[in-house]
Amino acid sequence: MITYVFITSQLFTEREHLTTAAYADSTNLQARVSIYHHRDPQVDFVTWAINHLDWPEAARVLDVGCGYGQYLKQLSQPTVDDLFLIGVDLSSGMLKDLSQQWDTQIPLPHLGVADAQHLPFSANSYDIVLAMHLLYHVPNIEQAAHELRRILRSGGTLLVATNGENHLHEIEQVFCMVLCNMTENRDIARFLPRISQRFSLENGASLLRTAFDHIERQDLTGVLKIPEVAPVLAYADSMRPTIEKTLSDGVTWEEIMRESAQLINDQIAQHGVFEVQTHAGVFLCN
Ligand SMILES: C[S@@+](CC[C@H](N)C(=O)[O-])C[C@H]1O[C@@H](n2cnc3c(N)ncnc32)[C@H](O)[C@@H]1O
Repeated sequence: MITYVFITSQLFTEREHLTTAAYADSTNLQARVSIYHHRDPQVDFVTWAINHLDWPEAARVLDVGCGYGQYLKQLSQPTVDDLFLIGVDLSSGMLKDLSQQWDTQIPLPHLGVADAQHLPFSANSYDIVLAMHLLYHVPNIEQAAHELRRILRSGGTLLVATNGENHLHEIEQVFCMVLCNMTENRDIARFLPRISQRFSLENGASLLRTAFDHIERQDLTGVLKIPEVAPVLAYADSMRPTIEKTLSDGVTWEEIMRESAQLINDQIAQHGVFEVQTHAGVFLCN
């Protein structure tokens, strides 16, 4: 029986899927973020990214696609200048988790549900706008870029984060191999979800250039040294809501996890760790 796996990029941008499955709450995103605890040496991407910004006094800051508030939390620390912070996200479940997990000693930023393609804010209203690991989920990336430009004050900066095309390549390879074996279809690899390739470090500048005159790119490469299989499976499992919908002909998620665990364990037995390359970065746009 030939199993046909077809993963369209449609699910990755579909509002219903994003808000009720992939990002119904923060569980999947938090599971993905935890794999970076194995970065060697440790670098905190959130700190690295926001350190590229110059902060005007009492800046008005909007985080679009704020998720569970990784950046808002960092920007709310008392050490950071007096910022006026707002976060919006497509998913009300994400915002609920953000509010519930917020440190009650620190004022909660203003939060609201909004789509990056239609932001409910006046023109020229923010000094700094963040769009971190967001744009690959947006159906019309150029429209979102124009919205982000519209709400930015003249002299303001948009900070955008995304991944390079080979980010976590080794994890993807394992799952490609498993799916290829299970489906007897060697071409299956090209269908695997490469969501960040809709908006990557490699193609991002050309998409942003439709709305911004000046774009500067900064890259951060690194390596994860993962000593056990569990964090990799947890990472993969966080994408289950999307990938499982595209499996057919009796291939179960459990089988895929079992086969993947075997391959990763083989590598750990051979090298002591499962080594994974990371490549992410930011665009500074104005
Ligand atoms: C990969 S997460 C990144 C979250 C956060 N920026 C971070 O880096 O931790 C993507 C987030 O974008 C949100 N999102 C997806 N499409 C969106 C859209 N069109 N407008 C606003 N937010 C969106 C998702 O709900 C999710 O919280």
